[in-house]
Amino acid sequence: MTNKTEYLRAFYTPIIANRINLKQSEYDAINNLLLKLEMEKWENQQPSQIIEKDVYESPHRLFQREEYEIKNIATKITNQVLDVVCKLNNYTGIQKSNLLTYAASWFHITRKGGFVQPHNHPNASWSAVYCTDSGEDENTKTETELVLMNPAIIPMYIDAGNANINLPAASDTIRFKLKAGDLLIFPSNLMHFVTPHLSSRERITIAVNFWFSLK
Ligand SMILES: [Fe+2]
Repeated sequence: MTNKTEYLRAFYTPIIANRINLKQSEYDAINNLLLKLEMEKWENQQPSQIIEKDVYESPHRLFQREEYEIKNIATKITNQVLDVVCKLNNYTGIQKSNLLTYAASWFHITRKGGFVQPHNHPNASWSAVYCTDSGEDENTKTETELVLMNPAIIPMYIDAGNANINLPAASDTIRFKLKAGDLLIFPSNLMHFVTPHLSSRERITIAVNFWFSLK
């Protein structure tokens, strides 16, 4: 301790907001493919959480499919998460090449009124959400939010003493209005939810849970 006042940043939660930019034709191709898979009833028969009406969820093996569009985005998302893992763990290039990566991956198509209840993914270390279509239309801008909740084990008493503290020390939530190309990477234990979708166009997102081991 020093004699001057220190504001320590303890229990830091790394949340990484990034982009994977595709051409519009590539967004169209992957969105059309995901909508086609839904039409073909490639549905998750054993969802790990309650799936709300107006939300379609695929089986959790999206990245195992052979279509070019899926292999392409799977590689890009996985590489971004690997970069984050190696940076935060200070892994060398050799350690990076010895990392074994496991993933459960799926997609959601959310229609007007659809939402996702608060949940987390306790069997993984990192989660990622990639948006391929925000679902906004001319009348409804991107209002749907992916909300990450404060991971503090003991909920905070909120009053005028802390209600107006901004990030990174904010006490409640951080909210993202994802647009096509946005990639959010966060620790899998973080509770999160998606607010009701208000637009008449579909919102399409790819979600992935990752876990790793070193060879
Ligand atoms: Fe989730």
